[in-house]
Amino acid sequence: MIIVISGTPGVGKTIVSSLLSKRLSMSYLHVSNFVIDRKLYKNYDTVRSSYEIDDELVAKELNAYLKSLKNVVVETVYPSLVDYADKVIVLRRDPRELYKELNKRAWNVNKVIENVEAEILGYVSQEASEWFREVCEINTTNLTPEEVVEKILAEECEKIIDWLADPEIQEFMLSLDKIIN
Ligand SMILES: Nc1ncnc2c1ncn2[C@@H]1O[C@H](COP(=O)(O)OP(=O)(O)O)[C@@H](O)[C@H]1O
Ligand SMILES: [Mg+2]
Repeated sequence: MIIVISGTPGVGKTIVSSLLSKRLSMSYLHVSNFVIDRKLYKNYDTVRSSYEIDDELVAKELNAYLKSLKNVVVETVYPSLVDYADKVIVLRRDPRELYKELNKRAWNVNKVIENVEAEILGYVSQEASEWFREVCEINTTNLTPEEVVEKILAEECEKIIDWLADPEIQEFMLSLDKIIN
């Protein structure tokens, strides 16, 4: 069984994936580490502080490797790298909480805001829904990682989350825009 855990950086993928993989006695694969270990990146973008990847090459190597593992929980920011999954979970987190979370990382302000805006606009969620037939979204805000795992196991999914439906989050996004412009 292949379970994909996706979502914007900082939503809780690593902690939830590792708890879930232990709970189900499955392997755990972190796609970013896989890319770095196998040197599948093209170069390091110093402005964005991130690796640029060759999507096709990564997808080819990754899917070949996934076929060799029987039971694995895969953590990725890019769900469309994975060709086949039995379950696809997208974790969502209140953008205001995510902003606090990402400010703890040694990232520049632009990178923090880009990622928070990606969560507000639902980029990862959209990519997952376009790529896979069924996607389970879970709002992790105010849940413990253990509670998130329980929801995944119980298949308690929510309808696709639209943060922008909340006027307070619209205001929050405008305030972020002001910081970077
Ligand atoms: N449900 C949660 N409640 C509180 N803190 C959380 C929760 N999920 C994750 N965190 C914390 O948020 C931070 C980011 O989580 P992490 O699993 O590294 O996210 P990701 O892998 O998506 O970047 C960690 O410090 C983690 O302990
Ligand atoms: Mg992670």
